[in-house]
Amino acid sequence: MGHIQITPSILNSDFARLGEEVARIPGADWVHVDVMDNHFVPNLTFGPAMVEALARVSPVPLDAHLMIEDADRNAPAYVEAGCGSVTFHVEAAKAPVRLAREIRAAGARASMALKPATPIEPYEDLLSELDMVLIMTVEPGFGGQRFLDLCLPKIRRARAMMDKHGLETWLQVDGGVSLETIERCAEAGADVFVAGSAVYSAQDPDAMVAALRERAAA
Ligand code: DX5
Ligand code: ZN
Repeated sequence: MGHIQITPSILNSDFARLGEEVARIPGADWVHVDVMDNHFVPNLTFGPAMVEALARVSPVPLDAHLMIEDADRNAPAYVEAGCGSVTFHVEAAKAPVRLAREIRAAGARASMALKPATPIEPYEDLLSELDMVLIMTVEPGFGGQRFLDLCLPKIRRARAMMDKHGLETWLQVDGGVSLETIERCAEAGADVFVAGSAVYSAQDPDAMVAALRERAAA
């Protein structure tokens, strides 16, 4: 397993002050940007132009989580927008291998996300094409939902598959991650932790990033 990384999601931050909101978490490893198109999920957020503006002011690189249809066509714009990591949903990609290669060739880390009901097993042979796998621990669409413990066995199986193939692939969890749930995720084998409401509802978001990091390492 790699070292622990904390990537706060700005989904529950103040959208009228995004520049200031990202400046509040200089101790984070990445800023997680949830791109939603109102089709793949029933919510609508940012497009490439806003992400590019955010990339210019963010103290740390952007980790884009694309919850959008037709990932094959739409994902490359987020590499061009300056994201250091681009995650597409496998449920929305027609050719995930080609897409992962395209993202990497354009200079970003390539990552594939799975919704809670999507199994990891069919994708074992794809893992070597990916820099990260994102296992959703809520149904994608909204922040502030309750962590789904039923996803923990999949995290464990994903980590075991990566170990079996000797891969250094990062394993990210997203949804309901907090001081209460992060240890369970780390114990199951996750090493990159998205936390939205836990960080942005805290008095001091950067102190919460540090507390989550410490709890995950415990
Ligand atoms: C949900 C998004 C998450 C969300 C997490 O679809 O992918 O990144 O912001 O928020 P919390 O941490 O509040 O569950
Ligand atoms: Zn997300």
